[in-house]
Amino acid sequence: MAIISPSMLSCDFANIQRDVEMINSSNADWFHIDIMDGVFVPNISFGFPVLAAMSKHAKKPMDVHLMIVNPDQYVAEFKKAGAHFLTVHYEACTHLHRTIQLIKSEGMKAGVALNPHTPVSVLGELLPDLDLVLIMSVNPGFGGQKFIDQAVEKVSKLKAMIKAQNLNTLIEVDGGVNLETGARLVNAGADALVAGSFVFGSADPVKTIQELKKL
Ligand code: DX5
Ligand code: ZN
Repeated sequence: MAIISPSMLSCDFANIQRDVEMINSSNADWFHIDIMDGVFVPNISFGFPVLAAMSKHAKKPMDVHLMIVNPDQYVAEFKKAGAHFLTVHYEACTHLHRTIQLIKSEGMKAGVALNPHTPVSVLGELLPDLDLVLIMSVNPGFGGQKFIDQAVEKVSKLKAMIKAQNLNTLIEVDGGVNLETGARLVNAGADALVAGSFVFGSADPVKTIQELKKL
């Protein structure tokens, strides 16, 4: 059974508490929180006050996906705002090993996200230090984009690397996830699925989460 992490980017920002409570009452496992700075990605989402407000009501772990440059300077602040998993982009970190150690020293689980063009092989020696790898199956910045098929192959390759090293690093996939793409990803070895527009755009999000959960 996959871990389901609904992306709050697609929630109704005028009714955040209502949507957080809807996720609390569903079979979802985590809250996926997308932080965008308008520099690393061509969009701006929301920052600490909104994350802290969500954390106040959330009864499940906050899975925070940073699409920002220079994440190191904000790591402690994300811990304070309620992050449990903190995932940074490979492409945004010059000293990735240092960033990962910093996240762990703050008592959070550490993740690395890979853009569609970045091969899983770049993680090689760093893999044992990671709690999670986030494979992007769209170019980060927006919800509601089309799934990039090559992500499935990347999941298979990464799963093989994790098994070969006898690790328990989680593989999460983000972008364009629905029942069809989700099934292919779980089949390839994905442990966690992020879904934004598919969940919040559906007539019955609780039921949609339940269907994803069964994949
Ligand atoms: C995109 C974000 C995603 C986004 C996914 O940059 O990282 O988490 O919310 O949205 P969907 O599921 O609609 O593709
Ligand atoms: Zn995301």
